[in-house]
Amino acid sequence: MKKVLLSGIQPSGKLHIGNYFGAIKQFVDLGNDYNCFIFIANYHALTTIQNKKELEENTLEVVADYLALGLNPNNATIFLQSDVPEVAELAWIFESITTMPYLMRAHAFKDAEAKAKEVNVGLFNYPMLMAADILIQNADVVPVGADQKQHVEYARDTAEKFNRIYGETFKLPEPLILKNTAVVPGTDGRKMSKSYRNTIPLFAEREEIKMAVMSIPTDSKGVDEPKDSETCNIFALHKLFGTKEELISLAGRYRDGKIGYKESKELLIEKIEKFIKPLREKRKEIFLNPEELKIILKDGGERAREKAMLKMKEVREKIGLSI
Ligand code: TRP
Repeated sequence: MKKVLLSGIQPSGKLHIGNYFGAIKQFVDLGNDYNCFIFIANYHALTTIQNKKELEENTLEVVADYLALGLNPNNATIFLQSDVPEVAELAWIFESITTMPYLMRAHAFKDAEAKAKEVNVGLFNYPMLMAADILIQNADVVPVGADQKQHVEYARDTAEKFNRIYGETFKLPEPLILKNTAVVPGTDGRKMSKSYRNTIPLFAEREEIKMAVMSIPTDSKGVDEPKDSETCNIFALHKLFGTKEELISLAGRYRDGKIGYKESKELLIEKIEKFIKPLREKRKEIFLNPEELKIILKDGGERAREKAMLKMKEVREKIGLSI
């Protein structure tokens, strides 16, 4: 029997190549080793997206993105969090055995408060809903970025507390921290990040790729001058796409003054286009038939809900709700 892996994805808009090389690639590759439950965290998204159209669009897009990147509905249960409304019930039960000071220690809450944002109760309770997502499916492992590790610890603590009060009910999940393999540099040399506006979208059209690459700043060395590949923003991106041999040869041309920045950019555009083209085409193909997407979600939702309802029956009995 394969172990159960569960993860939630926030439907938060356009992915870029930094997201892919930073985490999604490892995540998709796990699909073969586990019994996977992957859902779109649309209840969690309500704490930040309060616009029907935006939420609906982002939801379908993120599903299409992940399918295009190789997530396989034949070996993963893919569903919407809201198709398993039992998680909201379980979150309430967890909130009732959890103290305010304990939730006030959550990084996400502290960050939001520090930025003097108006923190809604949903955001404050976020870790409890996430604990419910995880524990209701008896998850063994939860792959997350380092920033989400604390949330998995909240789920473990909450499982322990519930088990202590009501008797052994929940399995303790393990976080599986996705290593931030490469810090993917953006077009300005800083870490690629939406907030820096230095991204290359993961499903970019050729023209978009070209514009992004052409905007990479360089120094003003001429074609024949020796250049340092290690401080070049173009070369930093070549590292993601080139083979070892290609990179050694390219670094040599930099050193010997045998390549100009313009040519290096043109080579990079071809590399990125070659990588993105099949992904872009697969994604387009998926969107030719959005009904198919909805069927995948409906199927997945039914399977996930069935498991959740069984667990909730046990929980309701244990705490005294089923008389
Ligand atoms: N908090 C996660 C994120 O922001 C999304 C999420 C919600 C999640 N529920 C989860 C991840 C359960 C793993 C398990 O990325």
